[in-house]
Amino acid sequence: MMIKLHPSNKFQGPKVVLWDGENNQFLKSDELKKIKEASDKKTHLFFRDNQPFWIINLGDKKKSIHELNEKSRRSGAQYWHSVSVEGHSEIFIESHIPKNQLIAFCEGLLLASYQFNLYKSEKKERQKPEFLISPENIERKELQQLSIIQEAVFFARDLVNEPANVLNAVELAGRVKKQATKSGVKVDIFNKKKIETLKMAGLLAVNKGSIDPPTFTVLEYKPVKVINSSPIVFIGKGVVYDTGGLNIKVGNGMETMKCDMGGAATTAAILIAAAELKLPVHLIGLIPSTDNRPSGNAYAAGDIIRMNNGKTIEVLNTDAEGRMILADALLYAKKYNPELVVDFATLTGAAANAIGKYGIVAMQKNEAKDWELWKNAGEESWERLVEFPLWDEYGELIVSKVGDIKNIGGPVGGAITAGKFLEHFTDYPWIHFDIAGPAFLDSTYHYQPAGGTGVGVRLALSYLIKRCQWASKIKKHSK
Ligand code: BES
Ligand code: ZN
Ligand code: ZN
Repeated sequence: MMIKLHPSNKFQGPKVVLWDGENNQFLKSDELKKIKEASDKKTHLFFRDNQPFWIINLGDKKKSIHELNEKSRRSGAQYWHSVSVEGHSEIFIESHIPKNQLIAFCEGLLLASYQFNLYKSEKKERQKPEFLISPENIERKELQQLSIIQEAVFFARDLVNEPANVLNAVELAGRVKKQATKSGVKVDIFNKKKIETLKMAGLLAVNKGSIDPPTFTVLEYKPVKVINSSPIVFIGKGVVYDTGGLNIKVGNGMETMKCDMGGAATTAAILIAAAELKLPVHLIGLIPSTDNRPSGNAYAAGDIIRMNNGKTIEVLNTDAEGRMILADALLYAKKYNPELVVDFATLTGAAANAIGKYGIVAMQKNEAKDWELWKNAGEESWERLVEFPLWDEYGELIVSKVGDIKNIGGPVGGAITAGKFLEHFTDYPWIHFDIAGPAFLDSTYHYQPAGGTGVGVRLALSYLIKRCQWASKIKKHSK
């Protein structure tokens, strides 16, 4: 679905009117009277010239800007899902609310319009309208930005929703390459041989149980003008399916595990959207990818793996595979002398249990300055961050008896011990996002569909946009 620009005086059809709850001038007196009588209702339907005229009250003095924006996004989604919009081919959005809320309403509408029906023989697509909006209310550039971000989120959702019998590591890398190349992002896919040459021991260990080869995909977006002298590196966990391996997942944990490449999908989508938005920032994306399965040759609990920085890992649970493959990517990131490394991973059930689908568990090291920007981007995108500590003491929980570290901690702090494990492979400013909670949903939640959500894409783009604006301000001041 798209939102198009259209002059307001040339439209005669149905309208949805976004209202701040105060400015009444556009309302007829009988409409105002009815609204006052039903003051607890937030949406009102009237008819003007026999055409529906919905009024949605999005005002709320008690709410902060970020809360108001989220309220508007949710309202956009609710409006999209409502049966009453069906059957209309076009609906005009008339705005009497602040620009930021209008943009948020449009965003909610667009994000809610996602469908994944590739495998439905009978596509039950309900007829939904296109939306029109006046150029007096929104600039073409703003609509374009919304649409680029929407497409990137949809791309990530599509990848997550593809089942593992279709999307193995090679296929994931191929689809990322196809899409990224179109947007001007350079893509290099390392095959198993190259991965062996690079001694990516974690990725190779996890891949041992698979009949498909692993891949390691390197993306680069480097426009001519950039604000950063060394790149920001994004890393995404690309486990296309996580059975747990020999420590096979029991109970009902396995059936959603096609989502275990959610971090990879998010990473690819971030670079693609940054390129489409032409952001002046040098970015690298790294995607280690394999499935995690049991087999006669699968890696096993008790194995000791020597990583290419010399550290030895005692594998005590093959289901803690994400950190094994991320370690290789974190080590590989060093060669870029990165300004910042950010990883996205559906890493632990512990993170999902701690905060559910409502936020992203975050840990960070040496990143005080940009950390504030990230937290702010979290509020702005409503992909909010909950910081967990990387205190030294948690490191005690992953000391191995026979090697340097073990790949699981104890019964407490599972998301943190995973973070502490990853920290062993970093020597630069680094942020870790555990998206196990919000990456995949059982049922629709506002503008997020059931299945893959593409969480992290809007967060990172919001950060990158701020980072670029902030850099250009500093430049102006120093002139
Ligand atoms: N992919 C899972 C984590 C996960 C759980 C993602 C729920 C999405 C939703 C990960 O590889 C895993 O299995 N982690 C284990 C680690 C444990 C063995 C230390 C877990 O969280 O149980
Ligand atoms: Zn696992
Ligand atoms: Zn996993």
